Amino acid sequence: MAVAHKMLDYMGKSSWIRKMFEEGARLKQIHGADKVFDFSLGNPNVPPPAAVHDKLRQLVANLAPGMHGYMPNAGLPETRAAVAAQLSLEKGLPISADQVVMTCGAAGGLNIILKALLDPGDEVLTPVPCFVEYGFYADNHGGILKTVPTSDDFTLDLEALAKAVGPGTKVVLINSPNNPTGQIYSAVALERLADLLRQKSREYDRPIYLVSDEPYCKIVYDGHRVPSVFAAYENSLITTSYSKDLSLPGERLGFVVVHPQAADLQALLGALTLANRILGFVNAPALQQRLITELQGLCVDVSIYRRKRDLLVAGLRSAGYVLINPPGAFYLFPQSPLSDDIEFVRLLQEENILVVPGSGFFGPGHFRIAYCVDDRTIEGAIPGFHRALQRAKNL
Ligand SMILES: Cc1ncc(COP(=O)(O)O)c(C=O)c1O
Repeated sequence: MAVAHKMLDYMGKSSWIRKMFEEGARLKQIHGADKVFDFSLGNPNVPPPAAVHDKLRQLVANLAPGMHGYMPNAGLPETRAAVAAQLSLEKGLPISADQVVMTCGAAGGLNIILKALLDPGDEVLTPVPCFVEYGFYADNHGGILKTVPTSDDFTLDLEALAKAVGPGTKVVLINSPNNPTGQIYSAVALERLADLLRQKSREYDRPIYLVSDEPYCKIVYDGHRVPSVFAAYENSLITTSYSKDLSLPGERLGFVVVHPQAADLQALLGALTLANRILGFVNAPALQQRLITELQGLCVDVSIYRRKRDLLVAGLRSAGYVLINPPGAFYLFPQSPLSDDIEFVRLLQEENILVVPGSGFFGPGHFRIAYCVDDRTIEGAIPGFHRALQRAKNL
């Protein structure tokens, strides 16, 4: 076998979303696309703001030399400066351009952070449910992902965290608003987490870094805001992207920003920049950096997602599902009426409804619905959700 055993193993483990995608294609061929309700992918369906298209047109018409050339590995100076200025407004403390490294999405950001911070065997601790790629990303850089449960409403469980942080912990990785639960971690919870990490860093005599993965930070509803980890903890890094808030996930642009008072700041920034280069990203895409430089603070119309969330939450609740009404992101994470979430997902498939089992996110007993889809898909699926729940109750 040519392929590495580890990759074969990973290909088996990582296949939930792919399986759903293939199942969707099969069902659409049999029943027609309009009869299949596909909630499996977190691919934003709200179009990018008009200003994105206008700016793109201007950029492609610009034939100036160097438009598409190599650049410093951390990104274009003017883009980093624009991002830093916006962050200074949003995070409540001054951020300078040299604290920002432009990346290939938040995924690229996470990978350069873990490459920069982890020695072999170092542990990355993350509250679950979580984004399934975290385990692979930790392993990419010789680290080990450790998981810690959250509370029933998916908020941080500080007691569980206090027990889970140990001498091997180098990074605590959080994601708020969360994929797959849509939950946001409060400022008070972040303060308490910061106190814990300061105490544990002293105890183990090495800094524990808090990494905040925030691609959904602008996809929030009902007046919620995502509290800044920078306000809580100095040894922190944030990564985010323009994938969700500008609906540009295929364009692969994001950034990492390091807290100005982080331990070993200069070495860390150097390591992040080198990691961008040697992981083969080299630099984030030039055209996309130029695109967002003048579009800072812009966001898709979030009220469209809020309406979809409200429609689906109301429909599911009236059918009898138990779920939190999430304050952010575009996912719902209802309880599975069967303890085996995979079995319940199969029942939904029989109704031509495609969702992802919670087990795929370290959250068994639940399932994830990505509601970044047409209203037609949401409205059309409610009767099937209803029937599947009734069938599960009769099993
Ligand atoms: C929690 C989380 N982190 C990171 C990513 C990767 O984002 P990007 O497409 O910006 O790399 C995603 C994408 O869905 C995500 O849900």
